[in-house]
Amino acid sequence: VRHPAVCEALAPTSGYDVVQQFHRVRARTLLLCAPLEIDDYAVQSMPDASPIKWHLAHTTWFFEQFILKSLVEDYRPLDECYERLFNSYYQTLGVVHNRAARHVLTRPTVADIMAYRRHVDEHMEQLLYAQPENASLASLVTLGMHHEQQHQELMLTDIKHAFFNNPLLTSYSGHKPKLDAVQPAIELQFVSFAGGLRIVGVDAKADHFSFDNEQPRHRVWIEPFALSNRLVTNGEYLAFVRTGGYRRPEHWLSDGWQAVNAEGWERPLYWHESLESEFTLHGLAALRLDAPVSHLSYYEADAFARWAGMRLPTEFEWEIAAANAPVKGNFFESGALHPTPAVRTSPEEVSLEQLFGDLWEWTASAYSPYPAYVPAGGAIGEYNGKFMCNQWVLRGGSCVTPQDHMRATYRNFFHPHSRWQFSGLRLAR
Ligand SMILES: [Fe+2]
Repeated sequence: VRHPAVCEALAPTSGYDVVQQFHRVRARTLLLCAPLEIDDYAVQSMPDASPIKWHLAHTTWFFEQFILKSLVEDYRPLDECYERLFNSYYQTLGVVHNRAARHVLTRPTVADIMAYRRHVDEHMEQLLYAQPENASLASLVTLGMHHEQQHQELMLTDIKHAFFNNPLLTSYSGHKPKLDAVQPAIELQFVSFAGGLRIVGVDAKADHFSFDNEQPRHRVWIEPFALSNRLVTNGEYLAFVRTGGYRRPEHWLSDGWQAVNAEGWERPLYWHESLESEFTLHGLAALRLDAPVSHLSYYEADAFARWAGMRLPTEFEWEIAAANAPVKGNFFESGALHPTPAVRTSPEEVSLEQLFGDLWEWTASAYSPYPAYVPAGGAIGEYNGKFMCNQWVLRGGSCVTPQDHMRATYRNFFHPHSRWQFSGLRLAR
């Protein structure tokens, strides 16, 4: 499945730019549904995942709730019940439908939800054309577009999980995986960085979009460190599995060892028990040994690093290393929908490959507020800040992240046991 590239940064400079970008983002969400059958829209394979139809409605709800209801005086919702059904976690707005039971929402129908999207899109367009100079409106719409892009990624990770749990192992893309001849992965080498006082994060007044959790810019003290030039491969992780990595408690954090035993983990989530193939968005594919190992929990990434005699990078080491790198890589727009082997981009020196795209990289940093962090005011302040407990930071984006959604300061976060995201690791020492 090839999708039209959307590569300009999502940073509108006028009201009319906002309208265009708004429609582009909204259209892409629908494009992601093109390979699906109507029966696929309601499935929820686990509490962490959501039905496709819920994603379609919730991203719409976001614009309605935070923009139309507050800025359009005579705005009439299409259906008052949607306020509760499609609220994800904004408790200060009222009662929220049980997250684990989103699959019971067979009604409203998919057709109803498509009508809801059209209703909100029409009112958003009218508002944006009526108030092209309204800067706070533009920034809210930009937030809503980035929110929708986060859900575009979730739609792909959630449908992958649903298809994996169905013995038919359906290919989302409808394509057979390309079985390129497997080359040896490029040699694992390390790039060193000096220590010292460094600046990380982003200023709230920067001329580009950022989430509140990336702010403010602040100083950190860094000891000298080195990062591996590429992500850890399936071949390297296979050696960990074959040498009893999942049976030896000394490699694991206590909580990780508990997860291994409670969940019966023996290999990465989507690997077949033969250890020769893995489930992808193109269906079951040969396990390419030179491609990055993916869909690891934090516990697995951490255990592998310890087994290898190294560690995970902190989020600040990662950010310092990526600060001047171009935001290029195997993003959603490549159409690969799967991480691909690293390619050496510099013939003369060892360079950091795969910093952006391919896989979210687990870091050794707990997801916590930066010094002087202030969440946005009102209900929208629930977006990021209240999750700063018991989750870990991932950096860099993945092969299902839209490219114009990513930047070096971006902090993604998941619980350490989560495995259904496109997550992998880079080594540090
Ligand atoms: Fe959301």
